[in-house]
Amino acid sequence: MSGHGDPIPMMSRKCGPLKGEAHVPGDKSISHRSLILGAMAVGETKVRGLLEGQDVLDTAKAMRAFGATVEKKGDTWHVHGVGVGGFAEPADVIDCGNAGTGVRLIMGAMATSPITATFTGDASLRKRPMGRVTDPLALFGAKAYGRTGGRLPMTIVGAADPVPVRYTVPVPSAQVKSAVLLAGLNAPGQTVVIEKEATRDHSERMLAGFGAEITTMETEEGRVITLTGQPELKPQTIDVPRDPSSAAFPVCAALIVPGSDVLVPNIGLNPTRAGLFETLREMGADLTYENLREEGGEPAADLRARFSPNLKGIEVPPERAASMIDEYPVLSVVAAFAEGATVMRGVKELRVKESDRIAAMADGLRLAGIEVEDGPDWWIVHGRGHGNVPGGVETVSHLDHRIAMSFLVMGMASEKPMRVDDGSPIATSFPIFEGLMGGLGADIERV
Ligand code: S3P
Repeated sequence: MSGHGDPIPMMSRKCGPLKGEAHVPGDKSISHRSLILGAMAVGETKVRGLLEGQDVLDTAKAMRAFGATVEKKGDTWHVHGVGVGGFAEPADVIDCGNAGTGVRLIMGAMATSPITATFTGDASLRKRPMGRVTDPLALFGAKAYGRTGGRLPMTIVGAADPVPVRYTVPVPSAQVKSAVLLAGLNAPGQTVVIEKEATRDHSERMLAGFGAEITTMETEEGRVITLTGQPELKPQTIDVPRDPSSAAFPVCAALIVPGSDVLVPNIGLNPTRAGLFETLREMGADLTYENLREEGGEPAADLRARFSPNLKGIEVPPERAASMIDEYPVLSVVAAFAEGATVMRGVKELRVKESDRIAAMADGLRLAGIEVEDGPDWWIVHGRGHGNVPGGVETVSHLDHRIAMSFLVMGMASEKPMRVDDGSPIATSFPIFEGLMGGLGADIERV
């Protein structure tokens, strides 16, 4: 899907306490990876709890185009994989819609097979840099022909005789790391990826789960990940945990709406993903982990978030950025309701997400009466404290689901309602957002 649907203007206004349980959908990162690795295994992988957001549905469609069978029976998704190196050449252009993760991981997965594929996406995805992925894929022997600046649409000619690579990822990006690892699957010998800052490690964990030989060593250079190529991946049964990045929205809403008490059950707290919750607690949020446990080798808990009238701005440690990179937009909303400045540094990557997230949030926050300073890789939100956030403006979502949801959360507690010009991108990652928030007591409407 290329996001050609009509825009959906939305508005949220001040509401009574948010109460109840928020069952958020499956993790987007893990959902993409389940389908892609399922398609590269030999036999049938079963996936429960898959995120049925548009991003992931586009990846499912792409995997079919490369020859895998992907179908839903009852509540379970079944993926019949074609094996490492078994991808067929797609008969048409692969449209990854809004999904950076989808397109970059799939480019990696096909780059070491002797096939050619052309990729495109919606207006947001066509602006995003692909060179960060095609540079390392070229080392394997793949060729990329795209628009100026390495933009989609882009054709990848997979390497017929791939060689393994040793690659240090120049930006903190799990998508780049994962693209290299997936390409390494069909290269003979060992592919080594080095990352200076730890990013989400779902690919490493899942590759091990599918039976690949993969090790991670913490060294002075950073995390050194070594993958042995050309394994036979064994199909798996996967229970996708719920997405901490989606949990962030009901959690943050509960913290700023007076009287709220919301339970968000069963959220994965993989340390490479849980930075927001730590940050909120440091700001004085009444946010507790209940029933802390291990699930599928990862920590998980039920999150309980209660209205927190005395939030304080803090300096977010830059080394935490990768573990909460998708959560800065909604954090900046909470920061507006805190006393004092929230300082966010080391966040250059925010400028190349579905939108330039620093610009998109700073524009809307400023319009809504909040002082924001920003530079190339930092921004500071000057909070006005609870009860002093004016709101009352229309913001632009720039085809970015997290921008739309962040401003709708803001409107739940600002003095005047917040409008978003287009809430349709919310369906990429959190299709049940409106119903779920409404069920807790939020007042969101399509206008
Ligand atoms: C993701 C990695 C992150 C993140 C995105 C999902 C992934 O992107 O922002 O939503 O699943 O690997 P980068 O790798 O560009 O940081």
